[in-house]
Amino acid sequence: MANSELANFLLSKVDQLPAVASLANLWTSDGKVAPDVMDRISVAVQSDPALASQVMTAGGGASVQSAVMALGLKTVESLMVAKAAEDTATSINPETLQLMQGNLWRHSKIVGFCCQLLAKEVGYPNTNDAFVAGLFHDIGKAVLNRYAFEEINAVLRVTSAKAKALFTAEDEAFGFNHSYIGAKIVARWNLPDQIREAVEFHHTPEKATVDVQITEIVHLGNVLVNWIQMKLGLKSNFYPLRPYILDKFNIPTERLRQIAEEANEIVQSTAK
Ligand SMILES: [Fe+2]
Ligand SMILES: [Fe+2]
Repeated sequence: MANSELANFLLSKVDQLPAVASLANLWTSDGKVAPDVMDRISVAVQSDPALASQVMTAGGGASVQSAVMALGLKTVESLMVAKAAEDTATSINPETLQLMQGNLWRHSKIVGFCCQLLAKEVGYPNTNDAFVAGLFHDIGKAVLNRYAFEEINAVLRVTSAKAKALFTAEDEAFGFNHSYIGAKIVARWNLPDQIREAVEFHHTPEKATVDVQITEIVHLGNVLVNWIQMKLGLKSNFYPLRPYILDKFNIPTERLRQIAEEANEIVQSTAK
C-alpha cells in the first residue's frame, strides 16, 4: 500500500471509532475542566453499569482520571482484538496484537500519572489535562497496531536493528507517525486543543503553539517512563529527549526518576 493510501485507510478507521461524546463533556467549550465535572461523570456512567464499576474502582473512588481511563479503555478494547470477518490482513496474529495493545495501555496509564505528577512538580495548573494528554499520547499506536499490523511489525524490526526511534522509523516507512494518527483520534473525541496538540507533538515539543508547557510535560513524561520501563539510559536513541527540555525543567535527575517510579507504582498497585 502506498503511504498516502495507508494514511487514508487509517484515517477512515479513525472516523469509525466511537465518538465518546461523554468524554468531551468533561470540558467546557473553552477547553477548561468543567466546574461540575463530577456531576457530568455520574451522568456519563449512569447508562453503563460496567463503566460505573470501573470508574468507582480504578484508583479507589470516582475521579476525572478514572472516568477518562474507563472511557479510553473502551476504545483500546475495541482496537484490541482482531475480528476475522473484517480483517483482510491475514498475517494478523491475535495474541501478538492483544499483547501489544495491553503493553501500550499499561505504558499509557503510567505516562498519564507521570505527567500529572510532573505538572504538580512544576506548578502547571491543569493537572487533569496533563493526565489525559499523557494517557492518550500514544493512542495512534493502538490504531496502527490494529489496522497496519504487518507494516508496524516491519517498522518495529527496523527500530531495534538500527537503534532508531519508533516515530522516526514510522516517518521513514509511512511518511507520518503515530502522533499524527493519535491527534486525529483526540480531535475526533472533541478533546480540547491543548490536549490534541500535546498528543500531536509529544515527540517534537518545539512545534507546540497552543500550550507549550503541557506538550513539554508529555514529551518528558513519556521519555521518563520509557527510561524506567526499558532500563535504557535517559538519553537513549529509542526515545530521544529534546536536548533543551532538561535545562528548561531544571529538575534533578534523581527527582525525575522518583516521579516516574511513583507513577509506575500507582499503576501497578491498581492493576487488576
Ligand atoms: Fe509516542
Ligand atoms: Fe509513549
